[in-house]
Amino acid sequence: MDKNLPIGVFDSGIGGLTVLYKLIEMFPNEDFIYVGDTINLPYGTKTSEQLKKIISGVAGYLNNLPVKSIVIACNTATTNSHHLKDEMDLPIIGVIEPTAKHALSISENIMVLATNVTIESKAYENIINNLKKDENSKQFYIKCSDFVDAIEANEIDTEFSHALVKKKLMPFANEKVDVIICGCTHFGLYAKEFKEIFPNAKIVECAEPTGLSLKKTLEEKDLLNDKKELGKTYINVTKMQDNFKDKTKWFDKPYECLKEIKIK
Ligand code: DGL
Repeated sequence: MDKNLPIGVFDSGIGGLTVLYKLIEMFPNEDFIYVGDTINLPYGTKTSEQLKKIISGVAGYLNNLPVKSIVIACNTATTNSHHLKDEMDLPIIGVIEPTAKHALSISENIMVLATNVTIESKAYENIINNLKKDENSKQFYIKCSDFVDAIEANEIDTEFSHALVKKKLMPFANEKVDVIICGCTHFGLYAKEFKEIFPNAKIVECAEPTGLSLKKTLEEKDLLNDKKELGKTYINVTKMQDNFKDKTKWFDKPYECLKEIKIK
């Protein structure tokens, strides 16, 4: 494997950009190719059968470019990605395990906010139940696919978004929640909304723990590149959206192009 190849990163839409943002900071000399699979958005309400096919398509596209590693910057896709190791031979990094472990290192009183598919998969629940030590600690697992729709509609820090989050989370406002896991990579964009209801909770996003997991893997496999110049980032979407630039204004990292691609 050529260590100077780019790293592939994908999500259903803009959520994975919260991960990519951090990866660019953590790996300034690496090149990144991002795919926002906007034609299949949202992932979080699809069946497992649909998701496996979609994820094989996107990961297969990246693998064929080629890339040296794939970061699945999506919790929903991570829950349906086990089959990829039989389809391709490169390191594949998911977001759930590193994020759950990081959250547990802070507190076991955890609220996981994620898509319907991710919550139903019990991916977070299984890891947390296996690793938690305090039987009296409390966890909450809440399906929030409606937040994804709102974020993709650019309802971020608006009256609508604050009301939406309030309606769902207010019933838990008096619970002891030390950590909120953004178990969907879109949800880092709702940190303000979550803080309004849980001002003292620590918001844990997938980006940094996933970056550390990627670093460990690339180091172990001697795949960190040895370039001295700054890396380049390419952003692709499977369906161009008129409001893409508008809803990603916060993504202030330079990128070479924004292009629509076709995945078979
Ligand atoms: N950002 C994705 C995740 O982390 C899912 C969004 C969607 O439902 O498409 O789960």
